[in-house]
Amino acid sequence: MIKQGYRLMIVFCVLFQSTFAQQPDIKKVFSDAEKQSMLMINTINNKKTNRLTFPRSLDKDSLKLVPSGDWTSGFWPGILWLEYEQSQKPELKEYAETFTRLMEKEQWNTDSHDVGFKIYCSYGNALRLTGIENENYKAIIIQAAKTLCKRFNPVTGCIKSWNSTSKWKYPVIIDNMMNLELLFAATRFSNDSSFYKVAVSHANTTLKNHFRSDHSSYHVVDYDTITGNVIQKNTAQGYADESAWARGQAWGLYGFTMCYRETKNIVYLKQAEDIAAFILDNPDLPDDKIPYWDYNVPDKIQEPRDASAAAITASALYELSNYSTNKKKYREAAGKILESLTRNYRSAANTNGGFILNHSTGHKPAKSEIDVPIIYADYYYLEALLRSKKK
Ligand code: GLY
Repeated sequence: MIKQGYRLMIVFCVLFQSTFAQQPDIKKVFSDAEKQSMLMINTINNKKTNRLTFPRSLDKDSLKLVPSGDWTSGFWPGILWLEYEQSQKPELKEYAETFTRLMEKEQWNTDSHDVGFKIYCSYGNALRLTGIENENYKAIIIQAAKTLCKRFNPVTGCIKSWNSTSKWKYPVIIDNMMNLELLFAATRFSNDSSFYKVAVSHANTTLKNHFRSDHSSYHVVDYDTITGNVIQKNTAQGYADESAWARGQAWGLYGFTMCYRETKNIVYLKQAEDIAAFILDNPDLPDDKIPYWDYNVPDKIQEPRDASAAAITASALYELSNYSTNKKKYREAAGKILESLTRNYRSAANTNGGFILNHSTGHKPAKSEIDVPIIYADYYYLEALLRSKKK
């Protein structure tokens, strides 16, 4: 009898664990995240200058603030909007609005493709969550899309990510897929199909030139602006030109999933599914589903993870699950990533300067932001949690 009770207890524990494995306690995680954000607001208020306002990471335990021109600036207002979405607390909306307004001049910033990240994570969420209340937000999104399109060249068929360097003439990075969401939104708000055409051209050119036969992607593809031909394929943030930089794979997955949502082009869905297979079936993906910073780095055990790549992947998989016949597989995979992040990669309360997750890697080759909290990991983690609630 005792033996049977013991067996039942084990069965119960296993069942409980596997159920829990798919379901972080979202209410509790968001309530903890909010407390972290309040801690961060205090630190920002004590530290900020006129120029440095947006949290990006920790540098030797000290909060690293960046100006609105930094590519990561939009994630902080985005986080506040996502926390508002969950809690509906007016004070969170006020904070979100305050930091969103500080992004306004970025609609005109032609310096890089990052205007998409900056304006869509801030104003995109603002518009989504406040709706008609703020027609002005639509105008800002449309202007930002016009700014982004200034970097499009019909000869290359894509948007130039970074300005030219001694190494690259017309560098386009896989991350740039993320900026297309702004263009699709601007098309809806303006009825101007030129944004849509630029987005589709960029996606098609990336599809053609960025991917290897195993569906992993190069980080940087450089184009000749006279012929439109590819000059070289390299990496900037990955381990090697021929390696698979972890966050790059996540940007590609998220980007092509979003392009399918916006166009219903089955080719993009297939691409997203192929990228998902590269990530999920990868023998170099650790058991806890949080990748090392690059899938091909040798001596992995010594190498840092990239929680941001995992968070972006989880969020993308939830969206992909809505369009794919592999719904169950993708939801389960996303659930495992979220469970792992929640259980083993979250900051303890009142630590890490208010960041939610730890153990991301920004730019290992440049020895920058290695195994630290980074703001975009937190953004996509919260987005993934919210997406997990929608069946
Ligand atoms: N877009 C830059 C990065 O992912 O680090």
